[in-house]
Amino acid sequence: PTAQVTLDPAFRIAPVGRRLFGSFVEHMGRCVYGGIHEPGHSEADVDGNRLDVLKLVRDLGVSVVRYPGGNFVSGYRWEDGVGPVGNRPRRLDLAWRSIETNAFGLNEFMAWSKLAKLEPMLAVNLGTRGIQEACDLLEYTNHPGGTRLSDLRRAHGVAEPHNVRLWCLGNEMDGPWQIGHTTADAYGRLAAETAKAMRQVDPTIELVACGSSNADMPTFGSWEATVLDHTFEHVDYISLHAYYEQNGDDRASFLATAAGMDRFIEGIVATADHVAAKKKSRKRLMLSFDEWNLWQQSRFGGHTNLSWEQAPRLIEDTYTVQDAVVFGSLLMSLLRHADRVAIACLAQLVNVIGPIRAESDRPAWAQTIFHPFALTAQHARGDVLRVATTTDLYDTAEHGAVPLVDVVATHDSESGQVTVFAINRHTNEPARLDIDLRAFGDLVVAEHLYLGGDDLDAANSIETPERIAPVRATGHTIDGGHLRASAPPVTWNMLRLV
Ligand code: AHR
Repeated sequence: PTAQVTLDPAFRIAPVGRRLFGSFVEHMGRCVYGGIHEPGHSEADVDGNRLDVLKLVRDLGVSVVRYPGGNFVSGYRWEDGVGPVGNRPRRLDLAWRSIETNAFGLNEFMAWSKLAKLEPMLAVNLGTRGIQEACDLLEYTNHPGGTRLSDLRRAHGVAEPHNVRLWCLGNEMDGPWQIGHTTADAYGRLAAETAKAMRQVDPTIELVACGSSNADMPTFGSWEATVLDHTFEHVDYISLHAYYEQNGDDRASFLATAAGMDRFIEGIVATADHVAAKKKSRKRLMLSFDEWNLWQQSRFGGHTNLSWEQAPRLIEDTYTVQDAVVFGSLLMSLLRHADRVAIACLAQLVNVIGPIRAESDRPAWAQTIFHPFALTAQHARGDVLRVATTTDLYDTAEHGAVPLVDVVATHDSESGQVTVFAINRHTNEPARLDIDLRAFGDLVVAEHLYLGGDDLDAANSIETPERIAPVRATGHTIDGGHLRASAPPVTWNMLRLV
């Protein structure tokens, strides 16, 4: 295929917000215990935080981290996780049928996120708990002192308030699997009242209302409309969650997954704006895509088949080269909606469908999907540009006709850097890119990297952690303001021009 692309610095969608490069740490499987935290590991610091994992988290370029769930939060008592570790109760975690020791809790998470230079995003339990407990947690976390719960935090050794800005009002309350699953009406009312009360405790917080668990939920669309009818004035964001996988041998559809993500985002924008129109409001509600990833969910046996283990191995999916290509294109979908998607969290960070993997006897290592995330987080800078692309379409069972080549670009007016991200979905032909850059003046190609190509099923492993890494491409030219480059079949590409 060929793709004729025109870029112009005047055609801006929105700045690339750093919060687009968030992730998620849930008390699930080995994400916390045996993931970010493993006292006794040769790489652990005095607090038990694994420094090898921490280094990879920094290299990944993560900005925000959501915590402590996920489904876990809907049965969680935050008080269990604070105070002297020896006094903390062992509990049944009903979400994942696991034993929770509570050795790691709020203050440990806050210390870890400080070390990792991450912005925390906390979720409150609106499954088994309500307004009071949400306010209690906020008082403990953000109130300076002189009250029972802020003084309790101080007694626990944290003198200064944590000042957490981002708060999620529950998790996936539309899902029958959720502890405290409820209706859009009941949740909407509870979320609105919780939001109002939490803002009384701390007016500076930003709040996320739960959208649907995924776009295939039977209540999808109407859930958001009803929840926003109740909460529109009281929240800053509505959440989106999505996990994607290849359906059977339908590679064509899987390679076009970003088209599904585009549709999902645009559907929620339309729904939020519909509520704004009804309310005669000028407010443009922003989106928090606070769980997204690839996940072979069809292989997951379900929540009810699990036994009561402590930090069991749960959904430790291996990601292939093909996954990295599709994953890279999902980041492109998020970027192109940067005018409405303000927050996005790759779910999850370590071990549990994680870009980072960790074992107790070896250094942590990076999966294939680590690379497109790290490159995008590092090089998508400045503003996202509105891209004009002309290319051929191909038919897919799941998404209809989809472009064979998809392109997203960013421009940093300070440094002058232009970064082009492109996926070639053709399974056996290279894509010839012709990118008109005349509007930028003189530019040279600093690098063209790609992932994909020959062995689409290849993956990294603990034995071969560096087998799959970005490949440097050659053969590009710039002539008369036109960049010409070739993207091999089934590849995600990044071209950086300076
Ligand atoms: O990330 C795994 C789980 O997926 C989360 O706990 C839940 O919110 C979603 O269903």
